[in-house]
Formats: sequence, C-alpha cells, structure tokens
Amino acid sequence: MWFFYSPSIIYGEDALDFLFRVPGEKCYIVTDKIIEELGLLKILTDKLDELGKQYEIFDEVVPDPRENGVIKSKEKCFAYQPDIIIALGGGSVIDTAKATWALYELPQFTLDELPLNPELFKINTGIKAKMVAIPTTSGTGADVSIGIVISRYEESDNVWRKMEIPHSGLIPTYTIVDPIFPMEMPPKLTADTGFDALAHSLENIVSVWRNDISDALTLKAVELIFKYLPVAYKDGKNMEARDKMHLAATVAGLAFSNSMAHLGHSLGHSWGAVFHTPHGTCVGIFLPYVLEYCMNNPDENDKTTEILGKMAKQLGWAKWDMDIKKAAYVVIDKINELQKEIGFPHALEETQVSRADLENNLDKLVSLCFQSPVCTAGPRSPSTEEWKKLFIYAYDGKNVDF
Ligand SMILES: [Fe+2]
Repeated sequence: MWFFYSPSIIYGEDALDFLFRVPGEKCYIVTDKIIEELGLLKILTDKLDELGKQYEIFDEVVPDPRENGVIKSKEKCFAYQPDIIIALGGGSVIDTAKATWALYELPQFTLDELPLNPELFKINTGIKAKMVAIPTTSGTGADVSIGIVISRYEESDNVWRKMEIPHSGLIPTYTIVDPIFPMEMPPKLTADTGFDALAHSLENIVSVWRNDISDALTLKAVELIFKYLPVAYKDGKNMEARDKMHLAATVAGLAFSNSMAHLGHSLGHSWGAVFHTPHGTCVGIFLPYVLEYCMNNPDENDKTTEILGKMAKQLGWAKWDMDIKKAAYVVIDKINELQKEIGFPHALEETQVSRADLENNLDKLVSLCFQSPVCTAGPRSPSTEEWKKLFIYAYDGKNVDF
C-alpha cells in the first residue's frame, strides 16, 4: 500500500488570484527581509488588501533557519491567532512557516515528537488554520513536501546540525506556484535552486522508496529542468522558462517527498552544517558522485544502473539499443554538461573551503551523515570509509571508483 501525499496545487500565471478561494480572514505571513526588499511581499499584501483580508507579518527568517527562529515565529502566531498561514519565500521561509503551523495546530507536541510518530499520523492539521505556501525560488520543493529542515545547535559537535523532520501534518494545504515570484532570482540562485530540484529528481528515482507515481513525476521534472534551467539562468525575464522551472521544482518536490532524496542530501546537509555552503550548491555538486557510487553497488540486485539507463533512453539522450550501463553514464555526462553550461561548480574545491578544513572536519562530516535519517532511503549504505571517500572525491572532482 502506498499513500501519496500532496497539497492542492495551483500553478501558472496569476495563480495568486486563488487566494480569494482560501477560507479565513486573518493571515499570518512568514517571509524574510530580502523578499520584502525585492517587492515580492507587496505583491502579496496588495492582493490581500484587494480581497479585504487582514495580515500580520513575521519577516525574520534567515537562511538555514534555526530552532529559536521557529519558536519566535510560533509565539507571534499564537498571539495573532490566524486562520490562514502564508509562507512567501524560499525553502527556509517555507520550512519555518510549516513548523510554525504544525506547532500552532498541535501545541501539545514539540518538533522532536513529530517525526514519523504513528500516533501523530492520525491527527490532521488545518483545523485552526489553512497553510498556503508561495515559493519564490524554483528548487526546494518545500511547498509540497512532507518534511522540514531546521538547524539545532549540538554542543558535542559544536555545529548547527540540520534536523530532517518528516510528518504528514507538515504538508501545506495549498501551494501557489506563480511564476511572478521567481522572476527576480539572480543567476546564481537560479542555478543553485535548479540543481536542488535536479538532485531531488535523480536521487529519488533511484531511492529504495521509489514508486510508479514518483517515477512518472521525476521523468517530467528532469525533462523540464534540462530544457528550461539554462534559459532561466541566462535570461531571468523569460516568463516561459521561469514558469516551467517553477513547476519543475514543485513536480520534483512531489516526487522526492513521496519517495525520498537520500545520500546526496545527507552529504549536502552535513557539508552545509559545517561550512554553510548554500544547500543547492552542495547537493548539486554531490549529485554525480552519489549516482556513480550507487551505480557501483556490488549488490547485483541493485537497480540504479538499469533505472538511470532507462531514463536516458526515455528522455531521448540514448538510443534504445544502447548498452544499459553506457546509457546510465549518459546521465552523468548530461549533469556535467549542464553544470558547465550554467557555470555551476563541479567539485567542492570550488566552494572556497580549503582541503585542510575538509580534512580537519572529516570525522564530524561523517558523523552528521550517519545522523541523517534520509540516507536510509539510498540504494547503498556507505561505510565510514566510503562516506569519507565521497567527501574527498567530490572535493577533488574525481570519478567514483568504489
Ligand atoms: Fe534539497
């Protein structure tokens, strides 16, 4: 039995107009200062003014949101008692809003009590407030996903560990995927978030939790990303490319939320926690190394090579009669080509972290990988030595030969 989780999705130009159909009058808006500076908050508040809805704004979200920020937002939310919670921003904003919403709906529980608690799966959210996610970047999939990532300080490791918290009550009621919001993204953010969406797609399609619905979604997401990411990167005002990339991120988000991204995200969350490299940069760099590692699985029942090879053929990247392993490597080649085309880094060395810093932190990085719940969905389970080698190979830009 499968349970496919999804919010109601409203997408395309003028999707924001859907707000008039959302029941409730008091809106609690979660956002950040950059969204306000870009004028995107005004687009939303103008719409709410037009609809006669009231609103209160929490604009203190920071990248890699921390637990204390969530608690602050929750307290403001409780004081306001909204019947609609709106997230306007990228993944950090949406995750903060989702956490605020869950704690508002389920005040008897803490964030630690949410993950995959079977009792809690019987409880619905959306009773006190409907949650509306409005992504302003095209990549995180946080607007449709079952999880959040919130940083908590771990004294023992002296690090802000990224807690991966899944719970069905964290899926927004609605997501509004309107291409007007990502139009202002600068090229680097376009590339980073686009590669996050690609990592969601290609990790989930080889996940042990993959399923027929997520496979179908992934195929479409990958097709859209390869066609439109270079266009959106080079011409940010191209509405068609923005629209398609925005949708691709949501489609990939639906896929990975229901079948799970894994090793690349464990590596990326660990690297990001220690070196604060943006999430999309981390997971985009790790992607080809992780896929090669999975393809090298000595377990002959592993399907990674077959899945990737078939995908290359379905997308027209390889001929139908091509050897399946060769076809699978075409996927790696295509990732590398896309990285080159949009100036995306291919190795961790390019993130300004020195090799000495990598070596000094290697044990900590590996320890964080082992604490990452999502790695269990990977088709192959790295040993301590293999985690270390994955970091080193991705740093040096070496093909994975183990
Ligand atoms: Fe991601």
